Amino acid sequence: MTTKNILVTGGAGFIGSNFINHILSKRDDYFIVNLDKLTYAGNLENLKTVEKNKNYKFIKGDIANNELVDYLFKRFNLKFVINFAAESHVDRSILGSEIFYRTNVIGTTVLLEAARRYQVEKFVQISTDEVYGSLGPTGLFTEQTPLSPNSPYSSSKASADMAALSFYHTYGLPVVVTRCSNNYGPLQFPEKLIPLMIINSLNGKKLPVYGDGLNVRDWIYVIDHNKAVELVFENGKTGEVYNIGASREMKNIEIIKLILKKLGKGEELIEYVKDRPGHDRRYAIDSSKIKNELGWKPSFNFENAIGDTIDWYLQNKNWWERIISGEYQKYYYAQYSERFNQN
Ligand code: NAD
Ligand code: TYD
Repeated sequence: MTTKNILVTGGAGFIGSNFINHILSKRDDYFIVNLDKLTYAGNLENLKTVEKNKNYKFIKGDIANNELVDYLFKRFNLKFVINFAAESHVDRSILGSEIFYRTNVIGTTVLLEAARRYQVEKFVQISTDEVYGSLGPTGLFTEQTPLSPNSPYSSSKASADMAALSFYHTYGLPVVVTRCSNNYGPLQFPEKLIPLMIINSLNGKKLPVYGDGLNVRDWIYVIDHNKAVELVFENGKTGEVYNIGASREMKNIEIIKLILKKLGKGEELIEYVKDRPGHDRRYAIDSSKIKNELGWKPSFNFENAIGDTIDWYLQNKNWWERIISGEYQKYYYAQYSERFNQN
């Protein structure tokens, strides 16, 4: 058995930590070096079950740090990259975009350059459906949909995708790009819609609904996303893009009401607030390519998986209480104080 030495970046965040926990529980032919800067969104508590695993090594650092990245490729003979690391929240990108371009664009190009120098055998760039922009009431994003990102976050991700694909075309670097829809599940930082609404409901706080609450997102359970990433990593064709989505479109207000119902809370907590600037109306993914070419399909049903997610937050109060008592408070104030006052 040959071991694959893989650089996983952003592995202390929501999707990356779920990926590492999942993959190391089923494979012993992967050696993972997790490079994570531990920003506000990175949490080593997410990785407790793997920290003593002999196939796992954590390095605290920035993907945009050229010297560090070069050292890691040499030191661990890295031949594969899965790049989850990013600044990932649209609202934060609206409050200040610089770190988004620094991490998401410059950071990715530092990794690409190192991957080229060390002749990496596969580079998976984890991207998002948000690079396609916004849909009207009908239609789906396919891999052919032109890129039309609308937020600083999505424009930084689109730039990173383009950089990655340009390294395939120019240097033959074996790059694959995945574009997934909105994820939910355990360990998601409570700035994103679902955990924010669960935690506010539990704390009896107002639920801030942007605009008319009718924006649509296409939801996928994080484990289904990560199974797709694993398949793309193993079998995805280089130079290609794969959309990932579970065909579960929901209006924001529907999700919020569902959470309230499951928690036995009343709808008086809902408060319509000032809309997000440039708020994309609808995302919806056509994932027939990954289904047909790689045999992927989602295995979690939304009703059960959202129930499990809510249960996880109920059972892991310590995890999120520690988060919301710290730095997150400052962000919450900056993001929501004016909004609540205006309506
Ligand atoms: P997250 O914000 O929960 O985690 C990001 C992780 O990256 C954190 O651990 C953070 O410390 C780390 N990080 C940030 N900047 C870094 C840097 N400069 N160097 C090293 N590490 C750094 O994000 P997430 O929701 O887990 O998203 C992971 C990836 O998946 C991102 O690339 C995101 O664009 C993409 N994605 C997310 C979703 C979603 O719904 N959350 C959907 C599609 C795609
Ligand atoms: P979010 O979880 O930030 O994901 P994204 O913007 O990347 O899709 O938001 C999901 C949807 O929920 C989006 O339409 C914005 C909306 N939203 C609210 O209405 N209120 C909130 O407090 C947040 C965080 C999001």
